[in-house]
Amino acid sequence: MSKLIYVLNGPNLNLLGTREPSVYGVIKLEDLENRLNNLAKGLGCTIEFRQSNHEGELIDWIHEAGAKKAPIILNAGAYTHTSIAIYDALKAVESDCIEVHLSNIFKREDYRHHSFISGASIGIISGFGVKSYELALMAYSEHSS
Ligand code: DQA
Repeated sequence: MSKLIYVLNGPNLNLLGTREPSVYGVIKLEDLENRLNNLAKGLGCTIEFRQSNHEGELIDWIHEAGAKKAPIILNAGAYTHTSIAIYDALKAVESDCIEVHLSNIFKREDYRHHSFISGASIGIISGFGVKSYELALMAYSEHSS
């Protein structure tokens, strides 16, 4: 049976492609989804791909993934640096989480250096653009098979 993986994207990631392309690249969110779906097929995974600008909705989806014990790839956007509520949600469920970022958050402004997500994640992949997500997917396919 195909392994289900949730890929959750936080605020402003719906604007990928036009949002600060020098930082986040020119690829659109739907192209990122297509690339992940292609990779997932080869790895025998199925992706549930979502984006929200709302913290509570992301938390509901973490609970949903948790109820299915499905692992999560999470780019929480700016909530990474602010959200104890998302941290608590990740701690509350049995799903594993890999934190991803398109940019290298440690190379940027000081306020991006702290992540609430990292403390509830297996690991973090940051700075490889779309590849950050692909590397996370590959990590999962090897992590638990
Ligand atoms: C981001 C980095 C965050 O600091 C920022 O707020 C984002 C995107 C990234 O993918 O590089 O929205 O998570």
